[in-house]
Amino acid sequence: MTQPYRITLLPGDGIGPEIMAVAVDVLQVIGQQFDLTFEFQEALIGGAAIDATGEPLPAATLETCRRSDAVLLAAIGGYQWDTLPRHLRPETGLLGLRSGLGLFANLRPAKILPQLIDASSLKREVVEGVDIMVVRELTGGIYFGQPRGVFATESGEKRGVNTMAYTESEIDRIGRVAFETARKRGKKLCSVDKANVLEVSQFWRDRITQLASDYPDVELTHLYVDNAAMQLVRWPKQFDTIVTSNLFGDILSDAAAMLTGSIGMLPSASLGARGPGVYEPVHGSAPDIAGQDKANPLAQVLSAAMMLRYGLNQPAAADRIEQAVLQVLEQGDRTGDIMSEGKNLLGCKAMGAALIQKLIIS
Ligand code: IPM
Ligand code: MG
Repeated sequence: MTQPYRITLLPGDGIGPEIMAVAVDVLQVIGQQFDLTFEFQEALIGGAAIDATGEPLPAATLETCRRSDAVLLAAIGGYQWDTLPRHLRPETGLLGLRSGLGLFANLRPAKILPQLIDASSLKREVVEGVDIMVVRELTGGIYFGQPRGVFATESGEKRGVNTMAYTESEIDRIGRVAFETARKRGKKLCSVDKANVLEVSQFWRDRITQLASDYPDVELTHLYVDNAAMQLVRWPKQFDTIVTSNLFGDILSDAAAMLTGSIGMLPSASLGARGPGVYEPVHGSAPDIAGQDKANPLAQVLSAAMMLRYGLNQPAAADRIEQAVLQVLEQGDRTGDIMSEGKNLLGCKAMGAALIQKLIIS
């Protein structure tokens, strides 16, 4: 038996606990099959943490995460916390976790699965074969830039301010992750900015262009963000790896996710220079269906697979989980978000059971 992996579980809010339970069951079975042991520690974040402790990211949670090998997060947020002041909102807990662990690189794959082509709102010929990796900068840009706030001006009128700023080193480190990622994929990198208007974007473009000389095997292109949004829905197959700033990556990764039919299918990994990464679905906490056993647990399960691959260096175990997901889709099992005619509609728990069955029998 190998040394146990210490995994912090952050189920969070809404459908979080339901989908997390499925992912943990899957990891337990995978553990038995691959001779891996997991030591799970649960901690509070988001609305659940606000209710229990008064703050969205208790110090104890960050400490537990820091001491672990990887963090598996479900989702945060819900209507009941939306009116709280900013520093007490669930989202602030998530941003604190990202900056507290130094997770500057967010990898968001958007790959269309052949079984789900009909769930996409785009035509088959447009989405068939789409396989994009969005590399989003996660701890800088307008999400964290100073000054920020609402200030009184000299005339007495109030003015809201956020600042989009990037330093050389912030651009270089995300740029390198993106070039390395592209190198392992289709060797095409598209950097997205708004260099026709924003100085920070021109600076981003110049730095990324300079880095390119270290990666002669990767073809670098640049797009303005408005054009990139259009190209993503017009002809998504032109993209392999996309690198962009925090805000543009937030927006484009939702669009890229939807190409695949459901945001309920997509995992993500947030990585730093060292220390544990955070693995989480791209989707949110879906408070409208929370507690009703209707959620799609597959993005959470695929996030656990990304954790095995990127965080624990267990690619065979990750492959096995991804294969089981394809197998349940192949036999027609669907949750509501990816349902189409003639398929079997399952709840969250039943989808988990179907996955476990696939893992056990093959
Ligand atoms: C995401 C989410 C978060 C973000 C929110 C919940 C703060 O939209 O992970 O994409 O904007 O980064
Ligand atoms: Mg988002």
